[in-house]
Amino acid sequence: MVGEAIASKLVALHYEVMMGSREAKSPKAVAWAKQAGANAHTGTFADAAAFGELFFNCTHGAASVDALRAAGEKRLAGKILVDVANIIPPDKAGAMSLGEQLQKAFPETKVVKTLNTLNCELMVDPGKLAGGAHTLFMSGDDPGAKKRVRELLESFGWKDVIDLGDIKTAAMTEAYLPLWLSVWQKLGTATFNIKVVR
Ligand SMILES: NC(=O)c1ccc[n+]([C@@H]2O[C@H](COP(=O)([O-])OP(=O)(O)OC[C@H]3O[C@@H](n4cnc5c(N)ncnc54)[C@H](OP(=O)(O)O)[C@@H]3O)[C@@H](O)[C@H]2O)c1
Repeated sequence: MVGEAIASKLVALHYEVMMGSREAKSPKAVAWAKQAGANAHTGTFADAAAFGELFFNCTHGAASVDALRAAGEKRLAGKILVDVANIIPPDKAGAMSLGEQLQKAFPETKVVKTLNTLNCELMVDPGKLAGGAHTLFMSGDDPGAKKRVRELLESFGWKDVIDLGDIKTAAMTEAYLPLWLSVWQKLGTATFNIKVVR
């Protein structure tokens, strides 16, 4: 779901995109590429890592380290990895966040955690709610990578992106998931977000 939403948005913004999957010819990925047009490609996680200059991790949080190992540490080295994943159910309190685990496992990759606090429709179309006047968070160790990701998020329509700090702060947004889930249950819709009012 998330991979398709982000990949479709990137194609609409004229990027060339490869959707990585465990199988080279994943039926879901192939169907997505068919309707997304000539700039949409499919392959294994390793193919996508060789193809891309910037990556989105949209895999199940509990499988993300394995999926990225399959992508290949060397292929990801020196590049930006935007980590959108959550671990469901969240790891017990005190465990290292997924964002930090990924940064530790792939030290030469610039991990930026963002977009994990809201539904995928809103990730790529914040204007759907309140004219886009709501808040997104970002965490990461590399200032240049965060600048690049902020520009990309702005091209998605984001106006209020709060940089929380280094990758350790990914723990804060990952810990938000139980609250997100209970608000979702109460409202009966995933189309909501929080806004930080100064
Ligand atoms: N859905 C949302 O709106 C939303 C919002 C915020 C954050 N997130 C987070 O974003 C991530 C993706 O969510 P989704 O809803 O898009 O899930 P999804 O549609 O089920 O996609 C899951 C992805 O994980 C891969 N995967 C699953 N098990 C794997 C394994 N054992 N090894 C390697 N790869 C594996 C799948 O690969 P294949 O293509 O090979 O099957 C697929 O690419 C999750 O971490 C979720 O918590 C989702």
